[in-house]
Amino acid sequence: MTDSLQSPTKFDAFDLLATMVAVVQPDGECLYANAAFENVMRLSRRAVQRSNLFDWFADASRLSDTVTGVASNAYSSSRFDALLRRGTRPYEELVPVHVIVSQMDSDAQVLVELIENAQQTRQDREERTLDQVQATKELTRNLAHEIKNPLGGIRGAAQLLEMELAPTEMGPELSEYTQVIIHEVDRLQSLVDRLLAPHRHAQVVGDVNIHEICERVRSVILAEYPRGLQVQRDYDTSLPDFRGDREQLIQAVLNIVKNAAQALQSRIAVGDACISLRTRVARQVTIGKQRWRLALELHVEDNGPGVQAEIRDRIFFPLVSGRDGGSGLGLTLSQTIAQQHQGMIDCESVPGRTDFRMTLPLP
Ligand SMILES: Nc1ncnc2c1ncn2[C@@H]1O[C@H](COP(=O)(O)OP(=O)(O)OP(=O)(O)O)[C@@H](O)[C@H]1O
Ligand SMILES: [Mg+2]
Repeated sequence: MTDSLQSPTKFDAFDLLATMVAVVQPDGECLYANAAFENVMRLSRRAVQRSNLFDWFADASRLSDTVTGVASNAYSSSRFDALLRRGTRPYEELVPVHVIVSQMDSDAQVLVELIENAQQTRQDREERTLDQVQATKELTRNLAHEIKNPLGGIRGAAQLLEMELAPTEMGPELSEYTQVIIHEVDRLQSLVDRLLAPHRHAQVVGDVNIHEICERVRSVILAEYPRGLQVQRDYDTSLPDFRGDREQLIQAVLNIVKNAAQALQSRIAVGDACISLRTRVARQVTIGKQRWRLALELHVEDNGPGVQAEIRDRIFFPLVSGRDGGSGLGLTLSQTIAQQHQGMIDCESVPGRTDFRMTLPLP
């Protein structure tokens, strides 16, 4: 290895990137690898930098030809898909990546960027979720107001009608109908109130501890499901407090945990239902379009049947429910609360493992 490149400070900015970046010589010798590369490969930087980048690829010749081509100025950049080898045999794992090879200004060095396909898919999904939530939020709010306005009038008119009809012969019979009107109006009213709820209350901001929130939610849910449900916790206690609205965040987490418990009904009946609350630190995360140096992740994982495929892409939409008697507002409210804290919630679900992840930026 070239001595002058032992501590290549000119590459330091690459550590801020979420994608993997390596600088190599035309023969593949790795002169530099950034922090994301280290993380994905689960190796120390020294180990990566002492190696030949081509050795990390399932099809080394493709990369080696491209690097040679770019280094010799045959073309200035090139992209292709490849498989990155992670771990050592027999535990080797192949990670699908998109590779971008570009020229650097100097010394026949070549810049190799690697984007994990899984990361790309997840990022696309997150952006789509945020766009969708944004688009529906306005519509829901306006619609809820429009519905709310005439409800008072309808209820009042039904009551007047009932009073007018009461003394007549048909009174008692017809009051059944007016009661239906009043009852349905009240149901709509409470639905509309829930739709408008997240926008109505001003945030009450104070110091919040994520584990205190988890513990509160845990005790509420265990009180509701005292038998057959285990709620495990796996906390990273190094997580600092942050500023936020404690009550709202409890509500946000409770909605997610409640859904998990509801999805676990049949396992609760046999006694092997499990929800786990896991907290972790995350570095250099992008939420929406914003980049944060530090964030916390709360995973709510359950061993239930998974989110039904038909609604999987839409569960954060208002009024989308896969449950009898569900109003489809719980996750919308949780997502809104997370966003009011500059965070977001996303979900990965397969039968047997559903993971809701709430990411909140830390100071
Ligand atoms: N952990 C989970 N496992 C399986 N399905 C889930 C899970 N969490 C949510 N879902 C699905 O997502 C749907 C939407 O959830 P959401 O909390 O928004 O509404 P809801 O639970 O139906 O009604 P509400 O919470 O308003 O009473 C649920 O009806 C359910 O089908
Ligand atoms: Mg719910």
